[in-house]
This record gives sequence, structure tokens and C-alpha cells, in this order.
Amino acid sequence: MCGIVGAVAQRNIVPVLLEGLKRLEYRGYDSCGIAVHAEGQLQRARSTQRVAELEKQLQAAHLQGFTGIAHTRWATHGAPATHNAHPHFSGLGKGNARIALVHNGIIENHDELRTELQAKGYVFESQTDTEVIAHLIDYLYAGDLFVAVQQAIQRLRGAYAIAVLCQQEPHRLIGARHGSPLVIGLGVNETFLASDALALAGTTDQIMYLEDGDVADLQLGKVWLADRYGQSVERPVHTVHVHTGAADLGPYRHYMQKEIFEQPRAVGDTLQDINSINAELFGDQAYQVFKTIDRVLILACGTSYYAGLTAKYWIESLARIPVNVEIASEYRYRDSVPDPRTLVVTISQSGETADTLAALKHARSLGMEHTLTICNVATSAMVRECKLAYITRAGVEIGVASTKAFTTQLTALFLLTLALAQVKEQLSAEQEADYLKSLRHLPTAIAAVLALEPQVIDWADRFASKENALFLGRGMHFPIAMEGALKLKEISYIHAEGYPAGELKHGPLALVTEAMPVVTIAPRDELLEKLKSNMEEVHARGGELYVFADADTRISSSEKIHVIRMPEHYGKLSPILHTVTLQLLAYHVACARGTDVDKPRNLAKSVTVE
Ligand code: G6P
Repeated sequence: MCGIVGAVAQRNIVPVLLEGLKRLEYRGYDSCGIAVHAEGQLQRARSTQRVAELEKQLQAAHLQGFTGIAHTRWATHGAPATHNAHPHFSGLGKGNARIALVHNGIIENHDELRTELQAKGYVFESQTDTEVIAHLIDYLYAGDLFVAVQQAIQRLRGAYAIAVLCQQEPHRLIGARHGSPLVIGLGVNETFLASDALALAGTTDQIMYLEDGDVADLQLGKVWLADRYGQSVERPVHTVHVHTGAADLGPYRHYMQKEIFEQPRAVGDTLQDINSINAELFGDQAYQVFKTIDRVLILACGTSYYAGLTAKYWIESLARIPVNVEIASEYRYRDSVPDPRTLVVTISQSGETADTLAALKHARSLGMEHTLTICNVATSAMVRECKLAYITRAGVEIGVASTKAFTTQLTALFLLTLALAQVKEQLSAEQEADYLKSLRHLPTAIAAVLALEPQVIDWADRFASKENALFLGRGMHFPIAMEGALKLKEISYIHAEGYPAGELKHGPLALVTEAMPVVTIAPRDELLEKLKSNMEEVHARGGELYVFADADTRISSSEKIHVIRMPEHYGKLSPILHTVTLQLLAYHVACARGTDVDKPRNLAKSVTVE
């Protein structure tokens, strides 16, 4: 999704800005742009192509400057077109542009502000909500950009991170945030700003995280901050080591494939040689918190939500604590009944998802202070805002469709289940030892499933011509069926739905024809015979079944039943293994259909707007 980079230096900062944009590319965007102070003017270049194209444009124009801002845009208001790409200019009527601005987030009162500014004579050249901020700052400008930005943000409703340049103040860059992340990077005699520390990796590792309401004044080698009340404030400087080592594709065709195959390593790293279960794995205060709470509320979006749904089965069964799992964008606006004895768990790969962050804040505003996050980014807002945390060690995930982040989330959630069970005296020493043994063996078990790839490729060719698919699972494999369907629709654009198999005859069975492949997760668990009955219902109606069946399930291949034999049933951790085959299926179907696997249309990696 949208990304911001900015710099004030004594060298040409165009390469730094481009490098930052490239590091943010994986999040998904549809246009990009740069503005710099050059020869006494604000000059910009924008493109609806990739950052590499923008780079060529800049080289051709010999655009260089000491102070600048850059942006990748994921369209919300206004089509992905050059005139809607950031940076936006204002002051065009007064000769050259006076203000240049980039923005992440959504301004909710943009219509009202647009009407007001049009009445003052401002002419809009885009359909974006962002352009109103540029004109508003220009209107309020009276010789001090910092003051103009401070005044302008008083008028904004919604979420924003902005970076602003003024033609009359060539060595100054102003940033402000509310609801969208923004960081400051400190260099030697130069300062930087970005929506994510990752964008500044290789440039500086000295990072300050802005708080909501902060306005930052960046000048050569110095930064001054004011908080939401306009008071001078200092934010701690962190040394941040961002791992960017995912760039090399190695033998793989796409990052998604690479990330699927990295799962044994990612899960192993997430387990960190844990030899015993204890609450402190989740933070110093975890034991006390786990002792206090008597219910769990899980909040997440997308794939992370399905990790939460799986965890509900685990936590209720092993720790005997009631669990509610909610889609963050629903929870934040729902009139729910709060209970202060709730452990609020957010799950997020990025730790920056706007809806999940807002849902967390909403839960806290309702008096629920026991917060824990399962997150892949140690420096993210989610980790900073939660009392307790477990950091998954998936490494940077580039493919928009989440794979290794999901299985590492499940791994962490299983550890959480065991820790809760232990504190609630539901876990014997023998069970603890057994589960730890299974966890330690998990990377090897995943590797065995990855070896099934050639068989999955055979299936993928048959799927490529389909336009619909059903995914069935039961019990703790039902969320995995939904995750499998999500993966397929995200990257192959085949319409897919995940259903609990028992619901088949309450609706989806009406859709079953020869044209509808029915993917079935068939673990050898206590629901197997029930599942087999559901499969019969499909078979009897001419449906074609594609079954991922554990060894010893006695499900055999026939004309319309295709079976890929999984390894032995892996007990409570079986959902993790069944996820891997569904990832492979979605990946190879997408390849067969020739889609842009790592950057599926319209989707973003990190959804920082509502
Ligand atoms: C986007 C991504 C998904 C991800 C979801 C939640 O939709 O494309 O892969 O599951 O956001 O993201 P989070 O970072 O909070 O896990």
C-alpha cells in the first residue's frame, strides 16, 4: 500500500528516495512519484509504471536535489493515473509550485475542504483526497511551513501520514502523522523520513517513531518535534536492524514460491529452541496477565484472521478458555460487550494494518488493558502498543499473499495455547513434553509436505480452466479451508469459497456440478467419517473431488476423486501441514493462469488505510 520516503541532505538525495521506494514496492502500488528542490524550484516526476520506470524518467530529466519527497500510491480516491499520483503541488496559480506533498491514509472530510478551497480560488487537478491537504497548507502558509502544517492538520479528519516541502524553504521537510505510521531516520548531517523503517535500511539504522499527533521539522542534521498539543517533545531513538535479505529469488520463480519453501526455516526460527513452555515467552508480565484473564478476544484481518480462527479451536480445547475471534474492521465499529478480564490478542504480519490497530485501540478504550500481539515486525506500531508480544520470525514476506507469515503465526498461537493451558493448570508435564516434541519436528514435517509439489502441479493444470472452486474442511481445518480459498482467489482470480463441510447441504451443494472442483481437507481425525459422508454428497451429484488425505484415511482415488496422500496425521498441528499443500495449489494454479503472482491486481501487502 502507499509508502513515503523523504530526505534533507547536502548531497543529491534522488538515489536515496528511489532506493526507499524500491524497498516499499512489495507492499503493492499502482503509481509512484518524486519531488525535489532543484534550481530554486519544486520539480517532480510521476509514473503509473514501476519505480524502475520512474528512475529512467528522472535520469532522462537529470533531476537532482538536496531535499525531496517520494511516494508509492495505492489508489483509494481517484483512479491510478499520473495526475492522481503523489507528490501533489499547490500554489500553481502563483507561478511555480509552492507546496509539494505526499500522503498515506484517507482524509474523510475532503469534500468539505475541497469546496471551501475551490471557493478561495484553488483549482484541483486530481480526484484525490490528498490534494486538499496541499492546497490547505498553501492557503495557510505565511512564511513558516511548520506552522502552516500544524494549522492545517487541525482541519483534517481521518488518517494521515504526510511529508511536505515548500519552495521558499529549501532545506526543510515537515512530516506529520495521525493514524498512519511515520518514522524519522537520523544520519550524519542529514535527516530522513519514511512510512516504514524498512525504506531507510542501508541509509540509517537510527530511527525515531512518531506518535499520533506529532509534527516533525526536519532540517540538515537536526529534527525538532511537537506533539499533538504543540509542545516540544522528544521521542526515543532506536537502533533498528531491518532484515532485507529476501531480495534474492534463488532457484524460485516468484517470492511466493520462495516463501512457501522457506517455511521449515521460518517455523524453526519462530520456535527459537524453546525447551519448555512458560508464560514469559510472551513478556515479563505475561504470567500475571494469563492468571487474571478468563476469556480471549482475537482481532485480525485477512489471512491473520484465519490464524485466529484456528487458534480458537486450540485454545478452547487445550486451555479451556472461551475465545471470540473477530474481523478487526467489524469489531471496531460494533457495539460489543466488553469484559476487562479478557486477553485481547491481535494477529498481524505487518503490525501496521489500520483496522487491526484501530480495533486494538477500541478494545483498550473499552477498558480491556490485557493486550498481546502475534506480529512479524518487532518495531511495528502493534508491538509498541501491546503489553505483551510474540514476534514470529518469518523474515520479510514479499509476496502479497501471505504464506510463511501465516504458518509462523499458527506456530506462535500454538505456543500461546500451551502457555495459557499451563497457567490454567490444564497442561500436564507429559503433554507439554509431547507437544514440544511435535513442535520441534514440525520443520521436518513441513519439508515432507513440500515434497508433494510435483503432484500438486499435476492438479494445477486441471484447475487453470475453472472459474469457481469450493474448499471444505471440518473442525480446526475449517479455517484452513477458508485460507486455501482465499489464497486461490487472491492470486489466480478464481472465485473460491471455504466452507465447513457440514454446511454443504445448507447451500453450496446447489453449486456442485462437473465444473466446480471441490477441494477437501481430509485429516485422519475424529471427524473423518462425517467428512467422508460430505464427500459422498458431492460425489453423488457428479462433483469432482480433490482430496488432501492423511495416510490411513482409506480414501481412494477413482474417476472423480483425486487424492494426494499426505504424511501421517499430525495431531493438533495438522492445520499447519494442510495449509502448505493449499498454498502450493493456489501458487501453481496462478502460474498456470499466468497471473502476477507476487503482486495480484488491486491488493496491497500492508493495508494502512481503513
Ligand atoms: C492484506 C494482505 C494479507 C494480510 C492482511 C492482514 O490484505 O494482503 O496478506 O493477511 O492484509 O495483514 P496483517 O499485516 O495485519 O497480517
